[in-house]
Amino acid sequence: MRDLLAARSQMAMSLAFHIIFAVVGIGMPLLMVVAEWQWRRRGDRVFLELAQRWAKGTAILFAVGAVSGTVLSFELGLLWPGFMTQAGAIIGMPFSLEGFAFFTEAIFLGIYFYGWDRISPRAHLAAGVVVAVSGALSGIFVVIANAWMNAPTGFDLVNGRPVNVDPIAAMLNPAAFPETLHMTLAAYAATSFAVAGIHALRLLREPGNGFHRRALRVALWAGAPAALLLPLSGDLNARHVAQWQSVKLAAMEGQFKTERGAPLRIGGWPDEMAGETRYALGIPRGLSLLAFHDPSAEVRGLEAFPRENWPPVAPVHLGFQIMVGLGSFMALVAAWALALMARGRDLVGHRWLLRALVAAAPMGFICVEAGWVVTEVGRQPWVIQGVLRTADAVTPMPGLVVPFVTFTLLYCVLGVIVAWLLYQQVLRSPTSAGAAMPASTRYGEVG
Ligand code: HEM
Repeated sequence: MRDLLAARSQMAMSLAFHIIFAVVGIGMPLLMVVAEWQWRRRGDRVFLELAQRWAKGTAILFAVGAVSGTVLSFELGLLWPGFMTQAGAIIGMPFSLEGFAFFTEAIFLGIYFYGWDRISPRAHLAAGVVVAVSGALSGIFVVIANAWMNAPTGFDLVNGRPVNVDPIAAMLNPAAFPETLHMTLAAYAATSFAVAGIHALRLLREPGNGFHRRALRVALWAGAPAALLLPLSGDLNARHVAQWQSVKLAAMEGQFKTERGAPLRIGGWPDEMAGETRYALGIPRGLSLLAFHDPSAEVRGLEAFPRENWPPVAPVHLGFQIMVGLGSFMALVAAWALALMARGRDLVGHRWLLRALVAAAPMGFICVEAGWVVTEVGRQPWVIQGVLRTADAVTPMPGLVVPFVTFTLLYCVLGVIVAWLLYQQVLRSPTSAGAAMPASTRYGEVG
């Protein structure tokens, strides 16, 4: 295995592992705070039990997220010294701010976890809100740095060196808003749908269980609006990509030829050698319309770019199709659930909705992984779009396959331990609300 490929694989694997915990670190505190707020408002102890269980889950996942995030920051410096030399001065600020947000989250999670009987109810709830806000902010700062890699601004390049550095302009790069919005919504939707799916599964077996009923409802109130908004923020993202990274858009859509009135492809397999995407269902003029809001707009195909600047087309196209397909399913399920909840209907009576929620449980996380494949693989061969190639940023150190294999094994072991801990501490332990509830208190009272 070549060293560049080993370094890229190690980075990809570390990011794929870490992003799961980062997403939960953003989404879970929201659920925990909503549950505690419901308890304080209604005095219903089932909500207290929910808040405490979710806090336990958050703490376990936060710890693993912190370790895997620290590994990533070392990898940035050790595997990609060329990137740090070029980008450190320009984009160091969001990384430092992320550090502040992360420490705030860690401190207040400790206060939240151990403060149930030690601080006032208001202060405790406020500590939960700080955990939720700082968790979201730490994700936002890191994604701002990533957005800069897609749309680098805030410096001039003279003789291959960045000069006239303006860190604020770099942070306010044009990809920052669409990417951070999309990622934050993705974190809320992915976590909440996973939680909703677990409780929907339990409700299919025990429809009267008050604990699972309340948990399902809190998860849906938090996650369904995010799932509904994701296609809209995704559209904003796609229009941004069309403007700033047109070769990435061409790969996402498997668009090889430059054409006016380009179709939107659903499915299909891009054949790079033949220069065409086979077996796709084409919606006439759809891509031109969505990307440029003009059904006759010209879309530049891959043929318009030098071959050495193409990203690997198949994984980018496939990742995009998976994200949009599963994301659309989640949005439909979210609309269905919200419509029922808004009319005060008992969700548990709708068994097909519960089944759909079970099916959707892993989809948010699959979309998150697919979305990052689109963003990162779609930017190749550049690590900083148009400025620095990935091959020029990698360390000259040989034998990179050794850390790649070691870290892969480490993540596998860590993954098994986390799954076991979560099962034992959060999923398996009995609930106090296991008994069937009287029909009159089954719904309505919860939100
Ligand atoms: C349903 C319609 C969706 C569309 C049209 C869409 C569109 C996009 C686009 C164009 C990108 C690439 C952005 C870039 O490279 O700059 C992207 C990235 C991403 N997507 Fe989606 N997406 C959708 C649904 C989802 C869903 C449901 C999730 C997760 C629950 C998700 C999670 C992500 C993530 C994590 C990224 C990478 C980070 C980012 O750019 O924010 N997407 N999406």
